[in-house]
Amino acid sequence: MAEELIVSQGTKEDMYETLLPQIASVIEDEPDLVANMANVSAMLADTFRHWWTGFYRVQGEELVLGPFQGPLACTRIRRGRGVCGTAWEQAKTIIVPDVDQFPGHIACSSLSRSEIVVPLFQSGRVVAVLDIDSKELNTFDAVDAHYLERLAELMSSSLCLSAKNL
Ligand code: SME
Repeated sequence: MAEELIVSQGTKEDMYETLLPQIASVIEDEPDLVANMANVSAMLADTFRHWWTGFYRVQGEELVLGPFQGPLACTRIRRGRGVCGTAWEQAKTIIVPDVDQFPGHIACSSLSRSEIVVPLFQSGRVVAVLDIDSKELNTFDAVDAHYLERLAELMSSSLCLSAKNL
């Protein structure tokens, strides 16, 4: 496993292209879900320095806060509530250019202005979401969705090793 994260100074695409193989190498042989979420949130945060980067895990009818980097966050989110609960319910990535325009957005931090939430799947069902918040408007676009969905696929492969942890 790489001991020090390499961060590209190029375009956003370059940054993701540099980051994803490093994430793959860190999580590929590690079956512990929480350990992998912890390292992935740290590597994303070290690369992009967004305001909040982390995971929520599906537990029954709620999302429960998982490993993250950033300020204090809401602990539990009901299915269908906020951006995270909506991404879970709809089983798809949601990009929010301006959180004030998203009905029901949950403001864990009043400084968050835009957001992306990407579901993680296991056997066709959503088992967790990756949530990234920015202090600027319009931070996330189709490039982020593309690479973060690839990242979610990588994590799903490692989840196969850890189904007992869900
Ligand atoms: N804004 C999210 C809640 C999670 S925090 O941003 C970390 C939402 O609306 O679901």
